[in-house]
Amino acid sequence: MPNKVIIIDYGSQVTQLIARRIREAGIYSEIHPCTVTADKVAAMKPQALILSGGPASVGSEDAPTLDMGLLELGVPVLGICYGMQLLTASLGGRLAQSTTREYGPAELTLTKDCALWSEVKPVTRVWMSHGDRVLEVPEGFSVTGRTPTLDVAAMADESRRIYAVQFHPEVHHTDEGTQMLRNFIFKIAGLEPDWTMSSFVERVVAEMREKVGEKHVICALSGGIDSTVVAVLLNRAIGKNLHCIFVDNGLLRAHEVDEVKNLLGGNLDVNLTVVDARSRFLDKLKGVDDPEKKRKIIGHTFIEIFDEESKKLPQVDYLAQGTLYPDVIESISSKGPSAVIKSHHNVGGLPETMKLQLIEPLRELFKDEVRKVAKELGLPDTIVWRQPFPGPGLAIRVLGEVSEDRLAILRAADNIVQEEMRASGWYRKVWQGFAVLLPLRTVGVMGDDRTYEHVIALRVVDSVDAMTADWSRLPYDLVAKISGRIINEVKGVNRVVYDVSSKPPSTIEWE
Ligand code: XMP
Repeated sequence: MPNKVIIIDYGSQVTQLIARRIREAGIYSEIHPCTVTADKVAAMKPQALILSGGPASVGSEDAPTLDMGLLELGVPVLGICYGMQLLTASLGGRLAQSTTREYGPAELTLTKDCALWSEVKPVTRVWMSHGDRVLEVPEGFSVTGRTPTLDVAAMADESRRIYAVQFHPEVHHTDEGTQMLRNFIFKIAGLEPDWTMSSFVERVVAEMREKVGEKHVICALSGGIDSTVVAVLLNRAIGKNLHCIFVDNGLLRAHEVDEVKNLLGGNLDVNLTVVDARSRFLDKLKGVDDPEKKRKIIGHTFIEIFDEESKKLPQVDYLAQGTLYPDVIESISSKGPSAVIKSHHNVGGLPETMKLQLIEPLRELFKDEVRKVAKELGLPDTIVWRQPFPGPGLAIRVLGEVSEDRLAILRAADNIVQEEMRASGWYRKVWQGFAVLLPLRTVGVMGDDRTYEHVIALRVVDSVDAMTADWSRLPYDLVAKISGRIINEVKGVNRVVYDVSSKPPSTIEWE
């Protein structure tokens, strides 16, 4: 049995970072909502438990409570923020409620030696985000740290292996937070690292096989890394009972359809149907220039086609999706944090109309972890390092009306951007880089002739999560090369401009 740390989620925005830090240390970790019972947790056989932070105030209406059975499992427990307050109240300590929140850095002074502080400096910077605080520790506990504003910033009952901290060790503003979490899993829980991407692949494949059994799964491919990884994992797990649908909507980049066909339908031998729906999408987009209308038409048409294709298959029970952790928005209610898929998500809406159960093998991973899984699965660098591409594709990069001619111009220009970004080594340094076709013409001169042609905008941005972004400082020589090639090679374009706006207040895409 591989090692496992279970995190009970009380709704903090940063709970997922705890899981990530634990996994980075080489121990598998899973997040469960705070409504999970101690019996269920016991059945998962964790070697340690972490109680996360959360926005509620212990004891207030609808505030999540602690299943005391969790403390009887005989495994070490670490309470973080709300988790610490919950331990305090549940074990007989006293809390002070507060209407204001302390938010930001604080200086933690260690006041008592304990295993959590191994190799941590006596005074160290930590990150706080809390309202309530501990006034009196429960019986058996000692205060192990304080800050200028908190007499009890950390506490421990080492004999029962219960530890608690008011600050957030999982965020990187806590200088030695990673060391503290490592102390918890290695020194206190006594675990040896055994989590790797290959063990993740093995585990997911085994879980999918067991969950799906002899049933059938449908999966929509987008050509991007997430859905490709899902398809390859499921192909390993259930082989021909996986049915992948790739809809060629005519809004894809150059070579994309062939790349998908060659990779998945070729060597990997995935059960793949490619639907040529180019004219269907283009017909529906005729005369439409409003970006949101374009998105809606594309989304609906996709669902229609997907539904039609699924009817040609044997009875399908599951829909596999490449949802990642950041796609899952955590919101706390009395029922525990619930998962809501971002409306951005391309195939949102499918499960309701088709009454399918969801399979989301990547829902606990971050993008960089998915890249590691892709590498582990032996996928080529073109997939592993593929930049995000919007579901509505080139339709939202052809500003104004989408027609075959205008798509062809954009596709050719975009292909040059992709080629030059790759050749210069900049492709992997930026978040996204692409061309946009503007809905206007400008004057130029070619030989002795005056031209009146299209303008391409080059949009290249740096970002970590697409929530904020800044324009990439590409070398002028590279910008010159891209612009020169586009103007020379793409018929109908006589001008290229570089977008120097950040997000906010702009967005990454132009529509
Ligand atoms: P914006 O333009 O909102 O883009 O700054 C943020 C990220 O989301 C991608 N994007 C989309 N992805 N469907 C998608 O699947 C969409 O409608 C959509 N619009 C934007 C965009 O490429 C960037 O990575």
